[in-house]
Amino acid sequence: MDNKYDIIIIGAGPGGYLAAERAGAEGKKVLIIEKEKTLGGVCLNKGCIPTKTLLNSAKIFYKSKNSESFGVTVTDAIYDFEKAFMWKDKVVSLITKGVAYQMKRFNVDVLNGNGEFIDRNTIKVNNALYFGENIIIATGSSPATIPIEGIEQEHVISSDEIFKIKKIPKNLAIIGGGVIGLEFASYFSMIGVEVTVLEMLPEILPNIDPEIAKTLRTSLKGCKILTNVKAKKIEKDKIVYMQDENEKSCNAELVLLSVGRKPNITYVGLEKINLEFDKTGIVVNNKMQTNLPNIYAVGDVTGKSLLAHSAYRMGEVAVNNILGKNDRMRYNAIPWAIYTNPELAGIGLSERKAKQKGYNVKVTTMQLRANGRFYAEHGNEKGLCKVIVDADTDLLLGVFLLGGVSSEIIHSAAVMIEAELRVKDIKEIIFPHPTVSEAIKDTMWEL
Ligand code: NAI
Repeated sequence: MDNKYDIIIIGAGPGGYLAAERAGAEGKKVLIIEKEKTLGGVCLNKGCIPTKTLLNSAKIFYKSKNSESFGVTVTDAIYDFEKAFMWKDKVVSLITKGVAYQMKRFNVDVLNGNGEFIDRNTIKVNNALYFGENIIIATGSSPATIPIEGIEQEHVISSDEIFKIKKIPKNLAIIGGGVIGLEFASYFSMIGVEVTVLEMLPEILPNIDPEIAKTLRTSLKGCKILTNVKAKKIEKDKIVYMQDENEKSCNAELVLLSVGRKPNITYVGLEKINLEFDKTGIVVNNKMQTNLPNIYAVGDVTGKSLLAHSAYRMGEVAVNNILGKNDRMRYNAIPWAIYTNPELAGIGLSERKAKQKGYNVKVTTMQLRANGRFYAEHGNEKGLCKVIVDADTDLLLGVFLLGGVSSEIIHSAAVMIEAELRVKDIKEIIFPHPTVSEAIKDTMWEL
């Protein structure tokens, strides 16, 4: 392996491996450095892919026990924890091997070790030096923690360790009602675990429209969600918390801490090269370029949008700019999804954010029960579609979907926002019938 490269990428998560693929496909000499044994980063190894695999098993189990109204009675449905985890391991193994295959396919050199900056073009890995004309930092993020008495105990874990548990706990307490906390709350409650979520703010999912967050909170199956509470200390089998100045406690055989994530910037030697960063991440412009022109940063480590699909696009933008093709990262049309039961997905501005930004908004909400496909498959389950439009320009500002497989539908709203379609254009699009996706168009007709 000659140690001179056009591009060196540190970190083989979605931002890093996608950048490597794109650069390799363009004939660049690329090295990707990964400290873990498998490629794919948090997303493939202990994030998106394993959680969605487990959530799917739990949803099958939950549905099989709750399908009588649809004419199906399943007796003795069993959730086999070991088999579900084996299936999860198989999926993770296949997908991570797929990334390794892609690296070979695009002639990307892969190095296992910890990458550290020596100077602006030199990275040290396992005591050897590698020179890159350009460098892309894609080191991701890690679970954040909080100072709380009892946190050092073995039964207090983060989303990194939760996949290592050996048995289903009787009860689980989750500190933090954000995306990670709610997905695990949904998973564990569907398989019969007593779940309590402790959120310190007045509503879960603080970055989401409060009306939508409240609807999800009240629709989540089988878990207890406490808001406005302050966890005080963690004991062996319970958490003591404060609510309305009263001391209370909840069962906690296992405690999951999901209070946000922090950028992985401490171990790559950024100070040594005077690269600009703060506690939210590495500072980048919309070309994903740092204050040092040959060094780029993509994905969670920038703190800009902690989503794998944002990282993919950031990786592409960085590579395009390195190749001399003008490309810019835009953040206004990034869809997101929370894979709870029911799912929640959204894009663009919430009603509150749109008003804060000074838009004159038109808002309409449709209950998905009015959609034939949704009603046939979900009956009276909660489901809604909320649309926010700029009343002055008729441009779509935001769409939020709760219920069913919202995650599979939201991209159509992303296309509408990205293409700057107006409501009158959207009304002319033909959607397949019967699909839940029609709800987006039908909601527009209410405006
Ligand atoms: P988050 O920022 O979504 O939520 C953290 C929650 O913890 C907030 O509601 C916050 O108010 C609460 N909190 C903080 N300190 C607390 C305390 N002391 N006591 C009680 N509550 C406290 O962070 P999370 O869930 O850790 O997720 C991190 C990132 O990962 C998110 O930005 C998310 O976008 C991303 N992610 C995305 C997924 C998806 O796209 N489906 C899945 C999982 C993670």
